[in-house]
Amino acid sequence: MIVNEGFYLFIITAELLFLISASVYIIFLIYSWLKGAPYVATQKKSLDSIIQHARIKDGQRIVELGSGDGRFLLEVAKKYKIIGLGVDINPIPILKARIFARMQKVSSVTFLLKDIRETDLTSADVIYIFLFPKLVQAIQDNLLKNTKRNALIISHGFKIEYLSKYHINTIKNGKFNTYFYKMK
Ligand SMILES: C[S@@+](CC[C@H](N)C(=O)[O-])C[C@H]1O[C@@H](n2cnc3c(N)ncnc32)[C@H](O)[C@@H]1O
Repeated sequence: MIVNEGFYLFIITAELLFLISASVYIIFLIYSWLKGAPYVATQKKSLDSIIQHARIKDGQRIVELGSGDGRFLLEVAKKYKIIGLGVDINPIPILKARIFARMQKVSSVTFLLKDIRETDLTSADVIYIFLFPKLVQAIQDNLLKNTKRNALIISHGFKIEYLSKYHINTIKNGKFNTYFYKMK
């Protein structure tokens, strides 16, 4: 009888923990969406092709706006000696990205809980974005006025209309096109 009560208590606690975790996860997913873009990761198979076309060099500073679980920056850091910064408004992907970075022993990439609208882009050599156009519209001034000459801006999934005169390449992979812009 006592064993049964203990067992039921264990099951109820486990169910409660599961429900709380799932609710927190869903609340933060909705939060990301409300802030400008839901969490959808770049497909792993697209990453290689995007990184290859970016022609990244050792020593470059790479910024990812809305970095999710950090898969782009961590993949780049495996191949090149870069200094990376990932920013995301949602603490759950930021936590995942930090855990993955630690597991993969990547110390050259930092993940910050931050809004992309408050991110300093002045020293970035490469900026990677996979965000809805409406949110990218909100950083128009920052991208046009505060980025370095020759900075490469990569937008996965969506064209950035106000950068059209800097467009240098489009690649097709998987479900989405990826657009490359070189600032002048
Ligand atoms: C489509 S996902 C892309 C994730 C990652 N870049 C990738 O390619 O796998 C968009 C990410 O942007 C984040 N996000 C949405 N609005 C944001 C904002 N205002 N500032 C920072 N991050 C934001 C979301 O939390 C989500 O993780």
